[in-house]
Amino acid sequence: MAALRSSSAAARALAASSRPAIRRPASSVRGMAQLADAAQQSQHAAGENAKMKTFQIYRWNPDTPTEKPKMQSYTLDLNKTGPMVLDALIRIKNELDPTLTFRRSCREGICGSCAMNINGTNTLACLCRIPAEDSKETKIYPLPHTYVVKDLVPDLTLFYKQYKSIKPYLQRDTPAEDGKEYRQTKADRKKLDGLYECILCACCSTSCPSYWWNSEEYLGPAILLQSYRWLADSRDEKKAERMDALNNSMSLYRCHTILNCTRTCPKGLNPGLAIAKIKKEMAF
Ligand code: SF4
Ligand code: SF4
Ligand code: FES
Repeated sequence: MAALRSSSAAARALAASSRPAIRRPASSVRGMAQLADAAQQSQHAAGENAKMKTFQIYRWNPDTPTEKPKMQSYTLDLNKTGPMVLDALIRIKNELDPTLTFRRSCREGICGSCAMNINGTNTLACLCRIPAEDSKETKIYPLPHTYVVKDLVPDLTLFYKQYKSIKPYLQRDTPAEDGKEYRQTKADRKKLDGLYECILCACCSTSCPSYWWNSEEYLGPAILLQSYRWLADSRDEKKAERMDALNNSMSLYRCHTILNCTRTCPKGLNPGLAIAKIKKEMAF
């Protein structure tokens, strides 16, 4: 069960970074020590050519709810690590600490599951290069202002509930002319570019201050971009109903055009523009 908001917890985590590690059974501690020894030996073997990099990672375990969240450090030789932050996380989990928990699936920016906050920016770990030339530690947190399930895993239950609320599927009553396909012109199809590519990673919504403070009622940039994807679809026949559902003070109009959303989208999309287009259509 999700229990902690990551942002407020993050401040506490920084203060608590000197706290002792979470207590584990003796056998697991021995296994961990062996893994750490092996990693250290391999670091010595790498010798002078080793390119060491430290990752500071947010840790919180729901099985020990009284323990405060903390930051835990792991050091890797980048010569033996793939180029992306997700490569580093996988290596840490495989070789140093199997208890580290994060989501990932496609490792190529398609599934959206590895979204997290890396060095202060919401992004996809599989698309984010390890800053190799930079000697500074890389800091990794879960997506901000989300409840945390464990370590880097945010609870996206509300996000998906909001997605469901916009009825993200084609709605029409008129049957297709040929009885098979609902066709559209090339120009109409083009209107969906920049919208259909959204992978629902939630990087934008969790970077939006309006969403942080009003997430129960404000839909946030990701869901509004998806909403516009259906408003802009020439084949959909429920545009009026879709607009009606947004026509209240909270669902849409909590956006104040701060544009954090557009700045952070790892797919290069522009949720801020999609929201502006919805507002324009509402106005006219
Ligand atoms: S608009 Fe971009 S950041 Fe937002 S959910 Fe879609 S892909 Fe992720
Ligand atoms: S433009 Fe709107 S949705 Fe995007 S970050 Fe700003 S307030 Fe949030
Ligand atoms: S693992 Fe699928 S987007 Fe990163």
